[in-house]
Amino acid sequence: MSRTFIMIKPDAVKNKHVGDILARIEKEGFRILGLKFLRLTELDAKQFYKVHSARPFYNDLCKYMSSGNIVAAALERENAFQHWRDVIGATDPREAKPGTIRALYAESKEANSVHGSDSDENADFEISFFFKGNELF
Ligand code: RTP
Ligand code: MG
Repeated sequence: MSRTFIMIKPDAVKNKHVGDILARIEKEGFRILGLKFLRLTELDAKQFYKVHSARPFYNDLCKYMSSGNIVAAALERENAFQHWRDVIGATDPREAKPGTIRALYAESKEANSVHGSDSDENADFEISFFFKGNELF
């Protein structure tokens, strides 16, 4: 078993896809360890995405991620981070395979409905960014 961190981004919350995405998480065999509904400040987003601080999309991404409410979750499954990335599809929804979450729901490359950790190490960092140990079950 391994862990991953996921977010439902502001576009998917605004467009009322939270229930469908949580149902997909369970259908894909993940166990929910922790779950929160919250709004990030721009500073929170800058800290969370600091690995991307040199990228041209960093400032816009941090503004976008603090523009509305999000859902944050810690999940457990075999092969957790890679399975979730397979389920969400390519960053740009125009390149995402049919049936993936981004193909189904995303508005654009930036407003792409969901986040997923890209390694076990980043999953640990991202889970601890949002959850204290006693908030994970
Ligand atoms: P994520 O981290 O959100 O799961 O997405 P990802 O691995 O597929 O993509 P990543 O390269 O880590 O980029 C993080 C997020 O930044 C936004 N982005 N915008 N306008 C652009 O060219 C652009 N490129 C990336 C997306 O919201 C992406 O998910
Ligand atoms: Mg990423």
